[in-house]
Amino acid sequence: MRLALLSLSVASLASNVWSLPTATPVRGQGTTCFPFGSATFNNSLQAPNVTRKEWWCPQSMTYGFLGFSYPMEGECYDDSFERINADLQRQKRDFGASLIRVYLPYCYTTYIWENLIKAAVANDMGIVAQVAWPLNGDPLENWRKIAASIIEVLSNNAYSNIAPYVFHSIEFGTEPIGDQDDGDNFINELKDFRAAVKPYGIPVGISEDWDRPGVLCSNYTAGRPPGLGPVGKQILPQSDFVHAHIMPYYHGYNISGTWGYISDQVHWYKNYTPVPLVISETQWAWELNVLHQGSKDVGTQQYKAFWHEYDANCQFFKKNNVGWFLHAWRWEGTFNMVMPNNSYAIPNWKPQKC
Ligand SMILES: *[C@@H]1O[C@H](CO)[C@@H](O)[C@H](O)[C@H]1NC(C)=O
Ligand SMILES: *[C@@H]1O[C@H](CO)[C@@H](O)[C@H](O)[C@H]1NC(C)=O
Ligand SMILES: *[C@@H]1O[C@H](CO)[C@@H](O)[C@H](O)[C@H]1NC(C)=O
Ligand SMILES: *[C@@H]1O[C@H](CO)[C@@H](O)[C@H](O)[C@H]1NC(C)=O
Ligand SMILES: *[C@@H]1O[C@H](CO)[C@@H](O)[C@H](O)[C@H]1NC(C)=O
Repeated sequence: MRLALLSLSVASLASNVWSLPTATPVRGQGTTCFPFGSATFNNSLQAPNVTRKEWWCPQSMTYGFLGFSYPMEGECYDDSFERINADLQRQKRDFGASLIRVYLPYCYTTYIWENLIKAAVANDMGIVAQVAWPLNGDPLENWRKIAASIIEVLSNNAYSNIAPYVFHSIEFGTEPIGDQDDGDNFINELKDFRAAVKPYGIPVGISEDWDRPGVLCSNYTAGRPPGLGPVGKQILPQSDFVHAHIMPYYHGYNISGTWGYISDQVHWYKNYTPVPLVISETQWAWELNVLHQGSKDVGTQQYKAFWHEYDANCQFFKKNNVGWFLHAWRWEGTFNMVMPNNSYAIPNWKPQKC
């Protein structure tokens, strides 16, 4: 009798527990997908024995802190496997990063992608690759060399089979509209590149700030949110993905106004660019950033407040299905997480998973 009662009460307790509205699971917990679940390359450069679609975690899981925006502004000599691997290890171990977003690759051969792939495999991380218009004075045709090196890695290279399992998506240009990269020909270049990548199933988009009234979004009209602008209407149909630059820093906000701006922008993208979305570039400065001046409201406290604000809004990013990258790991002056002495601008901080 006692036993029966006991098991009855356990059963009803259990059924009560299960009938509570269940919280949605923490990202990746209990899943076997890549890169948020338990999937591992087993340190092998052989392609996994599943389709790309089966390998990658679904877009619905791609939210919250994803990893760092990773400038690669040295030349090829700066892009050794050892250096990249050491950085990826730190990003994963110390911050829980799952992806990296390559920024300004200034090595124009397959060498950079091969080392990135090897390091990503070694750390079970994914890569957002980038084709960039050289901002460092290198010849402009190097833009085409970067695009060609990515296509070569995908099509005719020792890493071709594994590459689609490592490349999450590809950014064709970083602020190519804002910087007017390749002028009127840009849209054709985007179409060509996207068509060349299509057989490998890797989404392509541009990395850009769409808050450019009259261009990517429409001009502001009192009382009405802007929709797509004339250029935005051309770019969106050529985008599998939007890699958004949400940059209250460059729009001159003080730190107290940043969250209002960020959340408004996320809603704008959700409304007007209905393809998968990540925030690929967003930044704050822990001191005056001489080469990249924006908001005057900068300092260590503001820098910490900015990133803690992103972190604290994990549920917002989950609800809106948006991931974000922290710009930048290094190379970008006082935006950097890695300080000159190799410590972190925000010590002992691991963004939450929700
Ligand atoms: C890694 O090894 C595990 C255990 O043997 C296996 O289940 C898994 O499929 C392997 N991963 C890949 C990508 O082959
Ligand atoms: C890969 O999958 C195929 C088909 O399911 C199977 O025949 C083959 O043995 C698998 N290979 C490995 C290495 O697991
Ligand atoms: C948007 O505003 C700019 C600057 O005021 C103007 O030159 C342009 O014609 C406007 N575009 C549209 C579509 O209204
Ligand atoms: C914005 O920040 C600057 C620098 O910290 C400060 O001087 C200014 O008063 C702030 N403005 C507002 C409206 O809070
Ligand atoms: C590294 O630099 C930071 C910022 O200047 C400083 O706070 C920290 O104490 C330094 N750490 C070491 C180990 O020197």
